[in-house]
Amino acid sequence: MKKLILSLVALLATATMSAQKMLVLYYSETGTTKTVAQELQKQLIADIESIECVTPYTGNFQETIQRGQREMQSKEWPALKPLTKKIADYDVVFLGYPIWFGTYANPIYTLLNEQDFSGKTVVPFCTFGTSGLETSTDALRKALPKATVVDGFGLRKARIAEAEKEVGQFLKTKKYKKD
Ligand SMILES: Cc1cc2nc3c(=O)[nH]c(=O)nc-3n(C[C@H](O)[C@H](O)[C@H](O)COP(=O)(O)O)c2cc1C
Repeated sequence: MKKLILSLVALLATATMSAQKMLVLYYSETGTTKTVAQELQKQLIADIESIECVTPYTGNFQETIQRGQREMQSKEWPALKPLTKKIADYDVVFLGYPIWFGTYANPIYTLLNEQDFSGKTVVPFCTFGTSGLETSTDALRKALPKATVVDGFGLRKARIAEAEKEVGQFLKTKKYKKD
């Protein structure tokens, strides 16, 4: 009887885990973070949505540096197109962005101001030239005190060809997927 109850509890726990609704939500200017986002979506079999600016950045490095700095100084963050998915419908949000100026890219500031992440588990993921996962994760924890921001995943742009393997390894280590 005790064994039966234990198996039932285990079964229920597994069912609850797999019932977690997951969304991969990301911003990508030049496609690097998009590659990681698509890999996460594929391996998790999650929903996916990209964050789009009303006035897109041009994809030109110098122009984005200049516009980005202007926005940072004035704190006038870029307007976003409405999301088609509702954050409220999900338990876990994988939130992706490129690192800009040492932290998450400017469109994420707008997103955090507009959306309610209370009670959600947020898994940060990012791509960068050199680094930025830790700094941006700390910034997310400060910006989202009512969410649980867990340790996330970062990949250097120069290693983007390793995305499939690295994402798989991350998801396995953190037990988001079994094999
Ligand atoms: C405005 C701007 C600022 C950046 N700042 C940083 C930085 O502080 N540290 C870093 O490692 N990479 C930085 N990068 C490089 C990007 O994080 C990197 O190229 C990223 O993979 C681009 O992702 P995407 O293709 O998804 O837009 C910056 C790039 C831009 C355009």
